[in-house]
Amino acid sequence: MAKRIDGNRLGFQAELAEARHKGLTVGFVPTMGFLHEGHCALIRESARNNDRTVVSIFVNPTQFGPNEDLATYPRDPEGDYQKSAAAGADWVWYPEETDLYPVGWQTRVQPGELAQRLCGLSRPAFFGGICSVVLRLFNIVQPHRSYFGEKDFQQLTIIKKMVADLFLPVEVVGCPTVREADGLAMSSRNARLKPEERHIALGLWRCLSAARQAFASGQRDASLLVSELRGLWPQEIDLDYLEFRDPTHLDLVSVLEADTRLFLAGWLNGVRLIDNGALRDPR
Ligand code: PAJ
Repeated sequence: MAKRIDGNRLGFQAELAEARHKGLTVGFVPTMGFLHEGHCALIRESARNNDRTVVSIFVNPTQFGPNEDLATYPRDPEGDYQKSAAAGADWVWYPEETDLYPVGWQTRVQPGELAQRLCGLSRPAFFGGICSVVLRLFNIVQPHRSYFGEKDFQQLTIIKKMVADLFLPVEVVGCPTVREADGLAMSSRNARLKPEERHIALGLWRCLSAARQAFASGQRDASLLVSELRGLWPQEIDLDYLEFRDPTHLDLVSVLEADTRLFLAGWLNGVRLIDNGALRDPR
């Protein structure tokens, strides 16, 4: 039976310390809630590879810009508890804002160049807010391993970099993107799409599939393929970016390789959609 913890950072830390003291390994899945299969896959992966699994549910205000969807971000605390428990969580933690940002807090984490491209251009405070909350969560939970989805590949890359740069004693594990049967990448924000919008949102998956097909047929010229894919992009979605980048430094590439990733983002009636994938990769 999973234990639900509301706030109570100090009590929770004492329980975790006791588990670590017994020699148990702790896996950690940080989330903003409204859980779906993508989150549950991370929880299951953690439960498979660790003695104990912690899931945190916290809609982190510092990663939202002033005109973004913090207030309307979907929430379902009870459903999140049930799903986390069914996927193998031992603790489901709902931090209060002051558990993570004590009154008068001043310190933020400022990621570098990796955060100044892709989503970082249209969302300048985004990755600083993510690093600032993930570092706090890591320091409280002190997990042996922490699980992040490739769906947010830039986030995963920036967190790996933060862990390396700051010598954090945690192993960051990336997990494949979980998709709906028709290919749409699962996202908590999909709940805000009307049926006809959901259909339009599939345009991202269609672009990714077309890119993979073109690569399999021998296309190696990134700028030619970008022009071709822009032609497939649904006109209802305001394009933010459509770019080929390498998977390590997230630098733009001109010659496509099997591990080159296509990164896609846009807004559909105010709902942000993102996706990405490697050119030779079934996921
Ligand atoms: P959230 O969007 O709730 O996602 C939590 C974790 O689930 C992230 O690691 C994300 O990449 C992963 N995830 C989401 N959709 C997925 C999918 N379709 N397949 C696989 N994994 C998926 O990402 C955040 O929250 C926040 O930025 C957070 C890291 C919690 C910091 O606030």
